[in-house]
Amino acid sequence: MRKAYIAGNWKMNMTATEGREYAKALLAAVKEKGADVKMMVAPPFVTIPAVLEVLKDSPIIVAAQNMADHKSGAYTGEVSPLMLKDLGVNTVILGHSERRQYYGETNEIINGKILLALECGMDVVYCVGETLEEREAGKLEEVLASQIEVGLKGVDASAMAHITIAYEPVWAIGTGKTASAEDADSAHLFIRETVERLYSKDIAENLIIQYGGSVKAGNVKALMAKENIDGALVGGASLSVEQFLPILTFNK
Ligand code: PGA
Repeated sequence: MRKAYIAGNWKMNMTATEGREYAKALLAAVKEKGADVKMMVAPPFVTIPAVLEVLKDSPIIVAAQNMADHKSGAYTGEVSPLMLKDLGVNTVILGHSERRQYYGETNEIINGKILLALECGMDVVYCVGETLEEREAGKLEEVLASQIEVGLKGVDASAMAHITIAYEPVWAIGTGKTASAEDADSAHLFIRETVERLYSKDIAENLIIQYGGSVKAGNVKALMAKENIDGALVGGASLSVEQFLPILTFNK
């Protein structure tokens, strides 16, 4: 049985002050309503310590949205996984399409980060997904296969329990367009089959695959009802407790 895993990616939103207040309100709301999913929020780096003060002994995981591809050294502006670990952050989102699109991260760069995160004992949410042009050109499977093959190159089968994959079609992120539950499920099935081909049936069956791209209270149930959709990576709708709580409690 795969446990549902719902995550909030705050992107470049929320100061430390705002993040602390949000975390207090979210924790209180989750305690009151009860939630039966694995929960995570990913604040910006500088907001993480304030959020951790509130959430560190709670069931809500605090993750980073990115990290450097080196442990230390002359990499101006970067944040090392060791720095995150020292704060108490044990989960990192890697390969988000905004990192790929705006900051030139390739499958190879992301692969290096994934290997480093695993070496440092972190759990990874690895984002994959096609652009509209790729989908319209019939390249969905080709793109996903190479993101998975290259991104996970050198990842040992024994480390796969630390990997979650987030399928985020680029055209559905922040646009209000959601992939239909059927389209998302078929992409998730393809991802699961690819992982089975590269690893084993057992690993593929245990793999948590989140869907991301305009997930909201109004569509989460239909998405989560699909066999291969095991969670959600939520951007915009994770920025208010009012909108995020019904997503976290979709199964209550
Ligand atoms: P969105 O973002 O929910 O605002 O579409 C999802 C994501 O990019 O993780």
